[in-house]
Amino acid sequence: MAEPHVLPDPSRSPAEHYAELARVLASLMHAERDALANCANFAALVYHGLEDVNWAGFYRLRDGELVVGAFQGKPACVRIALGRGVCGTAAAERRTVLVPDVHAFAGHIACDAASRSEIVVPLLHGDRLLGVLDLDSPRPGRFTTADAAGLEILARQLVAGSDWDG
Ligand code: SME
Repeated sequence: MAEPHVLPDPSRSPAEHYAELARVLASLMHAERDALANCANFAALVYHGLEDVNWAGFYRLRDGELVVGAFQGKPACVRIALGRGVCGTAAAERRTVLVPDVHAFAGHIACDAASRSEIVVPLLHGDRLLGVLDLDSPRPGRFTTADAAGLEILARQLVAGSDWDG
């Protein structure tokens, strides 16, 4: 199994770094389709493999609301209604939401007062919304469009490589 700690290397572009994360994710998910197992390793991979991240994990859509899933970081709020907060907005609008300054996002749900910026990527299996991937950072403006592009590719890889019923 590949070394799961892919440390950021300043000589690598974000695209190269995400390509490396994608290779490690493929290795971690090899021959494994259990969604919880793959979400757990995904959360650990991006939490340790990206700089300045203080929360990384999933909210799964359950009976019409988002429920916290596998994550790394401090304990988080458990349930989020669609349309609420950054997660609920990304889920309701089925698009990636980049928030450079959480204090400027009306309705942001503060799980950890240290969080200053956030990115949320919807998990879509065809037309079906499975949940969202959420990353927080203590650094304002931490996430860029390069992170959005990289995380969207990783999220598609996770969705395609896992079984989501159950
Ligand atoms: N900040 C999120 C809530 C989840 S935590 O960041 C882990 C939001 O506004 O939806």
